[in-house]
Amino acid sequence: MLMNRAETALINSPPRRWLQRFYEVPVLLRLGGRIPPGSTALEIGCGSGYGSQLVLQQFGASRIDALDLDPMMIDRAQRRLTPFGDQVTLVRGSATDLRAALDAGDDSYDAVFDFGIVHHIPKWRTAVAEAARVLAPGGRFYFEEVTAHALNRLTYQRLFDHPTDDRFTAEQFLDELRRHRLLVLGSVTRVQGDYLLGVATKPLSNGGAR
Ligand SMILES: C[S@@+](CC[C@H](N)C(=O)[O-])C[C@H]1O[C@@H](n2cnc3c(N)ncnc32)[C@H](O)[C@@H]1O
Repeated sequence: MLMNRAETALINSPPRRWLQRFYEVPVLLRLGGRIPPGSTALEIGCGSGYGSQLVLQQFGASRIDALDLDPMMIDRAQRRLTPFGDQVTLVRGSATDLRAALDAGDDSYDAVFDFGIVHHIPKWRTAVAEAARVLAPGGRFYFEEVTAHALNRLTYQRLFDHPTDDRFTAEQFLDELRRHRLLVLGSVTRVQGDYLLGVATKPLSNGGAR
């Protein structure tokens, strides 16, 4: 589901960018570390591309594929990410079908980033399954998510558009990761039951983590 005007303005506002750069990124780096040099990352629901820029600059990815359902966001991301040249591939498509969008095979990315997008997808379980499928063994899934607890608040309901069925709690989201054999590294940061930040890994075939 696409963002409405109010959410588009909020998500692309300087305070949100500040929060993403100076709070979310340090938390995710503390939990999951940088990704190995030469790695290719995927960002699902990249919006205007600020997260992809941070993945290249702060997490150390050498390349990133980024997709979004909204062509307007892809245009914005294109403008932002032009200086990175062929380090970036931008595609319009759905996180629920990464084969159709990016021809992404199993185990094809060293890291997958979700900066607040899975709660926008009615079939969110399919998006989690896709992220797990394309992640290489030893790879990391970095997530920042908004739970049903937040979406059910009056302010969220009045201001923004989100799917109304099958919203997830923090536990349901984490259970879904486990169902796809993604193991959460360390602890998950929870903010007032509304938001969660964490990193999960797909175990190597011998059961270990990288
Ligand atoms: C809350 S915004 C987050 C954008 C960006 N990650 C950020 O942090 O600025 C959610 C984004 O998910 C996108 N989106 C919604 N459903 C999607 C889907 N099925 N596949 C890919 N992107 C989707 C929306 O167009 C929107 O850009």
